[in-house]
Amino acid sequence: MNLEQLKRQAQKEASLINDVSELEKWRVRYLGRKSSLSLFFDSLTKLPLSEKKRQGKEANKLRQTLQELYKNKKDEIENKLSATAAINFLDITQPGVKQSEGHLHPLTLVTREIVTAFEKMGFAIVEGPEIESEYYNFDALNIPADHPAREMWDTLWLRNSHKIPNPKSQISSSRLLLRTHTSPMQVRYMETHQPPFRIIVPGRCFRYEATDASHEIQFHQIEGLMVGENISLANFKAIIEEVVKDIFKQQVLVRFRPSYFPFVAPGVEVDIKLKQDTRHKKQDTNEWLEIMGAGMVHPDLFKRVGYEANRWQGFAFGLGVERIAMIKYQINDIRLFFSSDIRFLEQF
Ligand code: FA5
Repeated sequence: MNLEQLKRQAQKEASLINDVSELEKWRVRYLGRKSSLSLFFDSLTKLPLSEKKRQGKEANKLRQTLQELYKNKKDEIENKLSATAAINFLDITQPGVKQSEGHLHPLTLVTREIVTAFEKMGFAIVEGPEIESEYYNFDALNIPADHPAREMWDTLWLRNSHKIPNPKSQISSSRLLLRTHTSPMQVRYMETHQPPFRIIVPGRCFRYEATDASHEIQFHQIEGLMVGENISLANFKAIIEEVVKDIFKQQVLVRFRPSYFPFVAPGVEVDIKLKQDTRHKKQDTNEWLEIMGAGMVHPDLFKRVGYEANRWQGFAFGLGVERIAMIKYQINDIRLFFSSDIRFLEQF
C-alpha cells in the first residue's frame, strides 16, 4: 500500500469512529510502533540518500496529517461527551463555587433590634417624610422662627419652596426642609389619630453641622410617642429600662437629667450605664452615656391637634440610632457608618 492509499484508508476509518476506545485502536493501527507507517520509516534506511529524503518527507507529512486528524477527532468526541455529561451527570464530589454573601448594615441591625424591643412593649411603627415643612419641623413643636431652640437644629432648607400650601396648619404656606429630627411626626400623627396609642417612628434626619466623631450630617432617630390617660414619666422609665435591657442583653442602669425641649414639659435627657463592657466583658468600667432626649408632651401640642389637654397625658422621646450602635459595638467614630469601608462593614 502506498502512502496515498494509506492516508485515504485512515481518513475513511476515522470518519466512522465515535468513541474513545475505537479512536485509540485507530491510533495504534496508524501511528503506533507497528503501524504500516512505522514500518515504512524503517524501510527507508535501505534506500539511497536522495530517495530516503524524498520519501521521508512525504511520510513525515502523512504522519503529521494523521496526528492532526487524531487530535481533532479526539476533541470532537470529548466535546460531545461533556455536553451529554453536563445534561445527564451531576458530580456531587466537585468542590462548590463559593458565593460571597452580603449582610445587613450595622445600623439596619440595630434599628431592627430597637424596633423589635418596642414592638414587644406594644408600640406600633409609623414612618414620616424626610422632606418636611417648616411648620411640622418647628412651629407645631413650639419652636417659632425667632426661638433660640432653632439653633439646636441647624437646618438644610430646600430652595424655591416658600409657597407650599399647608392645608392642615394655621399657617397658609410653609417652607420645605430636610427634617432635623423625627419629632414632626408627633403632631402629624396626633392630627389624624385619637388616643390612647403608642407609636415609634424610625427614620433618617439631616443637620447642617460640621462632622466629627459623634456628629454626622445625616443620622437616624427613633421617635416615640405614647398618649393615654394617667401616663407619667414613671411609665416611660419602666418601658425604657425594659427596652435597653433587651437591646444590650444585660441589666442597664437608666437615669434622667433635666433638659429643655420646647415641645415637652418637663424635658429630660436619658443616660444609660452598662454593667458589662459589651465586647470585652469587663466589669463596671463604663461611663454614663446619653442616648436620647425625652419628656412629657407639652399641652400646647395637644391643643394644637384638638385633644382635651387636661384629659390626656403622654411622653415623647427621640433616640439616636448611631449612638446606640456605637455603644453596642464599641465604635468610636460615627463617620465609619457611612464610609462604605468594607473592612468596617465586614465585622458585622
Ligand atoms: C432631638 O432631636 C429631639 N427631637 C429629641 C426629643 C424627642 C426630645 C421627643 C423630646 C421629646 P437632640 O437634638 O438632642 O434632640 O437629638 C436627639 C439624638 O439624636 C441625640 O441624642 C443624638 O443621639 C442624635 N443626634 C443629634 N444630632 C446628631 C448628629 N449630628 N449626628 C448623629 N446623631 C445626632
